[in-house]
Amino acid sequence: MVKNNIKVGLIGLGVVGGQVAKVLLERADMLSHQTGSEIELKKIKVLPADLGKPLAQFLPEQLFTTSDEEFFDDNEIDIVIELIGGETPAYDYIKQALGKNKHVVTANKEVIAKHGPELINYAASQGVSLYFEASVGGGIPLIAPLERDLKANYINGIHAIINGTTNYILTRMGDDGLDFDMALKQAQELGYAESNSKNDIEGIDAAYKLAIMATLAFQCQVKPEDVFHEGISSLNARDFKYAKELGYAIKLLAIALQYDNTIEARVHPVFIKQDSFLANVNGVFNAVSIEGDLSGHVIFSGQGAGPLATSSAVTADVLRACRDVQSSTRNRGIILSTQKVIKPVSQIITRYYMRLNINDSSGVLAKIAEVLGQHDISISSVIQKETDDLSKTAEIVIMTHPALGNAIENAIAELKSLEVVKDINTAIRVEEI
Ligand code: HSE
Repeated sequence: MVKNNIKVGLIGLGVVGGQVAKVLLERADMLSHQTGSEIELKKIKVLPADLGKPLAQFLPEQLFTTSDEEFFDDNEIDIVIELIGGETPAYDYIKQALGKNKHVVTANKEVIAKHGPELINYAASQGVSLYFEASVGGGIPLIAPLERDLKANYINGIHAIINGTTNYILTRMGDDGLDFDMALKQAQELGYAESNSKNDIEGIDAAYKLAIMATLAFQCQVKPEDVFHEGISSLNARDFKYAKELGYAIKLLAIALQYDNTIEARVHPVFIKQDSFLANVNGVFNAVSIEGDLSGHVIFSGQGAGPLATSSAVTADVLRACRDVQSSTRNRGIILSTQKVIKPVSQIITRYYMRLNINDSSGVLAKIAEVLGQHDISISSVIQKETDDLSKTAEIVIMTHPALGNAIENAIAELKSLEVVKDINTAIRVEEI
């Protein structure tokens, strides 16, 4: 039976919540036309402080509540949109709404990365759906393609730029020669990075998003703690200069690969060839390349964050939930393999770029080559970049052939103990995409 009036409850009136409220109200006619039912924003659950926001002043007072009971006990609400972010109390709110047989739409990457499969299956057991397109890549469709359009594929891998803040910082460092602190400051001034930007800078935000995509792509639960992450704060403008000279760009990539019964999931800075697609995704833009065995490489790109782009994904999920309300259908839950193993980063083999400060005297390069050789690391090229005649030190850049992660780690520890090695400034993986 078609329901003529579908009622929606919204939790949160932050930048995304406010924008979604606007879309639901301003586009009510268009959205209702698409679903064949009136879609009514019935209630917004807010914190007392939100009531002073300009948008709250502008909307009818009876729309707002600060009470959990009033919101969750409202039997008329069919669909709950959760847009407060963070794990707590968002996880409890989502669970409560599903427990009361309401469909849920969320943009919450942390909750979905940590609890996605459990919540999807709980929703199915309650006869409702949980949608989370906006949790990864803002306005870029990624979840629906992974759940539906690419479903016939065996997914070999995902290579993604899925954090706009870090991509902006790396672009400024690469294009304008800014150092990290200056580029971060710019990102903060432009409102891209949050004032506490740890999650962005250290790759945690990207790890959440990769865990969500990898779980759907590989049909095996990839938890945030399974994703190795390394941030960008130790990168130096010199690395960008040298990368360029060698024909590479530096990007923070989120990489998930599947082969046999093994999965690799990692987020870290990489050297990628300047002429590759991902090397040319700049500023706050995101891009995701997914390789299916049937589809080949499919690339999605666009605005990975921001209220407008995110409201596009959230509202589309609301429309999907409306169809579920009307047809009394729901997601079928998610069945995950327990057979696959996550490969530790120490066992992952890649080429490396290394930048070292060493004594500028005879026999030093031979000593370094010997240590690398002892760890089974073969050198592909060595370039002496700068020399300081006063301190008699030189900066060298080493490119290696493919080497094991733990071999590099052990070799670096040993090199650091050599008197002739003043500092190892960076070691960055080189990815062939
Ligand atoms: N902090 C995120 C980014 C925002 O910079 O991409 C959206 O997840």
